[in-house]
Amino acid sequence: MTLELFPATDEPFRAPEPLGPGACVLRGFALPFASELLAALPRIEGVSPFRHLVTPGGYTMSVAMTNCGPLGWVSDRSGYRYDAIDPLSQKPWPAMPAAFARLAREAAETAGFAGFRPDACLVNRYEPGTRLSLHQDRDERDHGAPIVSVSLGMPAVFQFGGLARGDAVERVPLAHGDVVVWGGPDRLRFHGVLPLKDKPHPLLGSVRINLTFRKAG
Ligand code: SIN
Ligand code: FE2
Repeated sequence: MTLELFPATDEPFRAPEPLGPGACVLRGFALPFASELLAALPRIEGVSPFRHLVTPGGYTMSVAMTNCGPLGWVSDRSGYRYDAIDPLSQKPWPAMPAAFARLAREAAETAGFAGFRPDACLVNRYEPGTRLSLHQDRDERDHGAPIVSVSLGMPAVFQFGGLARGDAVERVPLAHGDVVVWGGPDRLRFHGVLPLKDKPHPLLGSVRINLTFRKAG
């Protein structure tokens, strides 16, 4: 019998770094998937281009977004919601590539959430100076499933706060291939991303891509 303690890659196994009872960072977990993830992006963008969404308050987000999978997260003057139709293309969002769903399921399982089947993947594109202010992910119907968040390209500083907006915020540096998972008692923790510094990545240049997997419907 072969014990699969080590993945089929030259990356050493690293234990999850806890951020809370239901939250952790899986360093480098997405590295074996990275080339497949990046190769899928042109097709996704070709169907549903990146765009800068407007918040209900009328502010244009600095991070550019698109989605893949059955449901996509959108924002406009009327509010935040999940929609099966991309309001820009007026068509369904592009399908979620099998490698995306498999990475999300395996990362969730490693973090202690077996059986994660995401139906939404928000694709965030950050350039130097862009940021995501502190927020909770609460537009999903069911908060029983975790959030799985994959970092690619330039590094970023992830802010992980508490259940109240004013709670202390931990700063977590994230690099290409890192995955953050939060669920259970940590599912509604406030989080955000500090303004990105320009530290070009060998594969992506001055861009950070974040894939956020959720069970939305
Ligand atoms: C998000 O909260 O949707 C994205 C977080 C990140 O980019 O790391
Ligand atoms: Fe979020």
